[in-house]
Amino acid sequence: MNIGSWALLLLCVLHLHFGHTQPPPKLTLKDMPVMATNQLKITGIPKLNAKRFNINIGLGEENIALQFDVRFEFNNDRNTTVFCYKQNNSTWTNLVKDGHFPFEKGEEFKVTITFDKDEFLVKIPGNYIKSYPNHFGAEKFMLVRVQGDVRIKSFNIE
Ligand SMILES: *[C@@H]1O[C@H](CO)[C@@H](O)[C@H](O)[C@H]1NC(C)=O
Ligand SMILES: *[C@@H]1O[C@H](CO)[C@@H](O)[C@H](O)[C@H]1NC(C)=O
Ligand SMILES: *[C@@H]1O[C@H](CO)[C@@H](O)[C@H](O)[C@H]1NC(C)=O
Repeated sequence: MNIGSWALLLLCVLHLHFGHTQPPPKLTLKDMPVMATNQLKITGIPKLNAKRFNINIGLGEENIALQFDVRFEFNNDRNTTVFCYKQNNSTWTNLVKDGHFPFEKGEEFKVTITFDKDEFLVKIPGNYIKSYPNHFGAEKFMLVRVQGDVRIKSFNIE
């Protein structure tokens, strides 16, 4: 092998290595129901240049019962979390903003979400738990999606 082949091999190994250690920025779980008896646990790291990321739980694309949106900087919001939902592909409805903001760019966090037919409970770092109404009254959701400026480190449904 000449130097060029070694360099190519090294590049391939590096590529594979980083390909494996960098989880995808988006994650969609479809047609695998999340039940009221489950706990959804997500650990992640906001990107260093993060503007926002969110966790969505819904019946489908057009009916999202909970969007938990972490806004470092989005529209006029700074260091704010936003809870909202949408029905029949409406615009985001019943936005609830919260200034409790334990998230830091580049720092690992854990979010745990549970729900029943009445409410979602979103637990964020610092043992802070926020309740948001379950507007659909559903005890089973078919769509979970994480999107935006975050690296997902682990994702568990227990
Ligand atoms: C948001 O939080 C970061 C980190 O704690 C802080 O440096 C920054 O000043 C905050 N921004 C605002 C507008 O409060
Ligand atoms: C949403 O669509 C369903 C099915 O078409 C309908 O029954 C329901 O009333 C609609 N809800 C709203 C808020 O538009
Ligand atoms: C839902 O809304 C999005 C954008 O607002 C649109 O692109 C999409 O086609 C809509 N879906 C349906 C089924 O109407």
